Amino acid sequence: MTVHFIGAGPGAADLITLRGRDLIAASPVCLYAGSLVPQALLAHCPEGARIVNTASLSLDEIMAEISSAHSVGQDVARLHSGDLSVWSAMGEQLRRLRSLGIPYDVTPGVPSFAAAAATLGAELTLPGVAQSVILTRTSGRASAMPPGETLSAFAATGATLAIHLSVHVLDRVIAELTPHYGPDCPVAVVWRASWPDQRVVKATLETLETAIGAEMERTALILVGHAIGAESFDESRLYAGDYDRRYRPVGTEPRFPDTAL
Ligand SMILES: C[S@@+](CC[C@H](N)C(=O)[O-])C[C@H]1O[C@@H](n2cnc3c(N)ncnc32)[C@H](O)[C@@H]1O
Repeated sequence: MTVHFIGAGPGAADLITLRGRDLIAASPVCLYAGSLVPQALLAHCPEGARIVNTASLSLDEIMAEISSAHSVGQDVARLHSGDLSVWSAMGEQLRRLRSLGIPYDVTPGVPSFAAAAATLGAELTLPGVAQSVILTRTSGRASAMPPGETLSAFAATGATLAIHLSVHVLDRVIAELTPHYGPDCPVAVVWRASWPDQRVVKATLETLETAIGAEMERTALILVGHAIGAESFDESRLYAGDYDRRYRPVGTEPRFPDTAL
């Protein structure tokens, strides 16, 4: 018996790995995390599967579901939105499973920041503009930010920021970022990336609040940085015609002569 933690992706039902889909199909129990996991994924569950929405359950109640499946040797497919490596509450479940000696494995999923970038058709790391992406959030009721992990500290790096769980405090986000990126810095907000009702607003730090208006939906990602929508950036040296590399040696004395077949 194994508990399979599966990244269910950002929303579109076909943005799940083949491995994740097959594990759902092979597990007689499916525990899924509420409204952010697309219901359409549950169609992969085998007939007669026990399917439980864990949105209203406590950690103890979730563990009771898992223990009961464990006692009868039934595999569990445990679905969380996006990828499990960020803001999935997987860590505390794995710790309990380790102490109970219940086996588990983890199958990654498409994270929402990648889905939002895909919606925008944007590369978040552009040569000479930004070479790092910081996945972050602001403090919420359930989780405070550790000291030092402030938006202004991250903004001081100039990296592209993918800010989760924060569209409801947009005024605070803008106020913290503007001194570092400047009022003209491009911003995009993507609500429900990859869902049929996804929505995008592109603006600058200065114009964002007006551009958004009274949108209330909270499942949104704020992408900030000069790489968002930039047209002025260097081309990658990797594909430059004169760039000598292992798979494309150039010139009379290439650095990797052995590969020049
Ligand atoms: C609890 S976190 C889950 C993050 C998830 N594990 C991931 O890999 O993206 C929920 C937050 O992720 C972001 N999010 C999740 N799905 C999204 C989507 N389809 N479009 C935009 N943002 C999304 C929002 O900021 C939302 O408040």
